[in-house]
Amino acid sequence: MNIVVANTKGGTGKTTTAVQLALYLTGIGKKVLLVDADIQGSAFKALAERGKLEIEPIQPCAFLPDPVQLRTQIKAYQADYDHIIIDSGGRAGSHLVASILSSEVLLVPITPSAVDASALGDLKAIITDAREVFGAEFKALSFISMADVSGSDNFLTEKRIRRSGFLEFLDTSLGKRKAFRNATALGVGVYEMKNPDSKACNEIRRLAQAIFTSDEEKQNS
Ligand SMILES: Nc1ncnc2c1ncn2[C@@H]1O[C@H](COP(=O)(O)OP(=O)(O)O)[C@@H](O)[C@H]1O
Ligand SMILES: [Mg+2]
Repeated sequence: MNIVVANTKGGTGKTTTAVQLALYLTGIGKKVLLVDADIQGSAFKALAERGKLEIEPIQPCAFLPDPVQLRTQIKAYQADYDHIIIDSGGRAGSHLVASILSSEVLLVPITPSAVDASALGDLKAIITDAREVFGAEFKALSFISMADVSGSDNFLTEKRIRRSGFLEFLDTSLGKRKAFRNATALGVGVYEMKNPDSKACNEIRRLAQAIFTSDEEKQNS
């Protein structure tokens, strides 16, 4: 399955999510390609660090910031991978549409402080365009990224997402944890760290499970 991690807002944890999700799936034995579609190339650079540290298994990663190349290359790679995870970056341009057109799932990390109506409005317009103008078929999922340990902001954010009505809300979050920051900078999965943070490990596992079962959950509810 192809999953594009996107949000028109910067700094919401897209790169962290894409890198950790790819490495988690690789860790459970799937063939996964991580695609960095962001011109800043943060995911690609992080994976270069992993390469320098010579950590096994090797995580395949492609840097494809050009929208046309992105579409073409993903088609070419498709048959060789179980999953392709795309870090789309923060621009709301043609590369985001190209990423969505190449994916079955759009995954939107939203931070407790980042839910402002205008950013969600941008996203809604892009999703509507992709479906209605380009005929793309994909699920639009969201979750809380960098969740607060306490306080009411997580819940308020969840309420706003649910009220917006166009994003399915996954009831599992990635907490604000040093483990995510440190591991991702090195292109390492949180479970691959020397002293793994068990909460971080559980969170990425639960997120992956929620993405892959979101359809079943819907049918059962
Ligand atoms: N779950 C998390 N816990 C702690 N820090 C995080 C978490 N997710 C992201 N960060 C940090 O927040 C900053 C922005 O995250 P990043 O994944 O680069 O966002 P984006 O790709 O959306 O711009 C980075 O410094 C990153 O290390
Ligand atoms: Mg990024």
